[in-house]
Amino acid sequence: MKKRGWLIVLVVPLLVGAAISAEVPEHPVRQFVGVTKCKKCHTSAKKGGQFKVWSESRHAHAFEVLASDSAQAIAGRKGVKDPQRAQECLQCHVTGYGEPADHFAATWSDSQGVGCESCHGAGSDYWNKTVMQDIRFGKATPEKFGLTIPTKETCAKCHNEKSPSGRFVDWPADSAKISHKIPKGADKIED
Ligand code: HEC
Ligand code: HEC
Ligand code: HEC
Ligand code: HEC
Repeated sequence: MKKRGWLIVLVVPLLVGAAISAEVPEHPVRQFVGVTKCKKCHTSAKKGGQFKVWSESRHAHAFEVLASDSAQAIAGRKGVKDPQRAQECLQCHVTGYGEPADHFAATWSDSQGVGCESCHGAGSDYWNKTVMQDIRFGKATPEKFGLTIPTKETCAKCHNEKSPSGRFVDWPADSAKISHKIPKGADKIED
């Protein structure tokens, strides 16, 4: 009996400790938080400057481009009047199109175009530092917190025969064009 008592004293705190490291918070729904949240921690050049790479990519301008002459021409062929308001265009030009309104935090905006969460999934459960590091260092599974490690299929949601060019994503070449990797060893740097 005595022995078992000790076992509980030793094992229970271990289990509680494991639970503290990264538990999925009980949010009523998982929300798209928008790129400004990710920017806070993903700007450091030493760590690959993901926010800068993204903001200089076409994805960051995917909503804006719907106001261009070129968009008007594409829209005209489909009988669409205002591309920035049309489901026919927005489904591939903004993050989370078609999701219910309560799946968007106030910090999300359509003007951010194809944001981080278009490829990485709605961020409300994974965007805090503990979770991010636990995922990075293999202590938590990304899917459990809604984080997607993108593959060719992620891109094919938009880069498919229904896009204006009808071109499928060229993997890995197109992925290399938008690459924003963390340089080797850099994720151990504190900043
Ligand atoms: C509070 C800070 C913080 C915020 C906010 C944040 N991250 Fe992170 N993220 C980190 C840290 C820390 C790492 C681990 C690597 C490192 O040290 O740079 C990481 C790693 C990642 C990884 C790599 C995971 C892996 O498996 O290697 C992805 C992808 C990622 N973040 C995406 C995002 C996206 C998208 C957002 C916005 C929705 C976001 N992060 C917001 C701090 C943050
Ligand atoms: C199935 C997803 C999808 C839909 C629907 C879609 N787009 Fe796009 N759009 C893309 C992708 C992907 C690109 C990047 C270039 C490419 O590979 O087609 C793009 C590029 C563009 C461009 C920039 C390149 C260019 O041709 O000038 C414009 C403008 C554009 N789309 C307008 C529209 C308009 C207007 C609509 C609605 C009538 C629309 N798109 C509907 C996915 C889509
Ligand atoms: C939510 C829809 C969406 C997803 C998901 C998406 N893209 Fe795009 N992508 C677009 C749109 C829309 C454009 C065009 C934006 C513009 O021209 O303003 C684009 C443009 C691009 C471009 C530049 C145009 C070109 O043809 O050279 C590259 C490269 C690209 N995407 C690669 C990728 C890769 C790789 C993935 C997957 C990891 C991906 N995209 C996922 C919608 C998407
Ligand atoms: C168009 C799709 C797309 C968008 C938008 C996007 N990413 Fe990524 N991201 C990827 C792909 C693809 C990878 C590489 C996955 C792999 O390692 O094979 C990746 C990897 C990462 C990594 C891990 C890099 C590493 O070295 O392991 C981080 C961190 C990250 N993204 C953060 C962000 C942040 C922050 C944003 C927005 C500012 C963002 N991503 C926007 C597709 C995207």
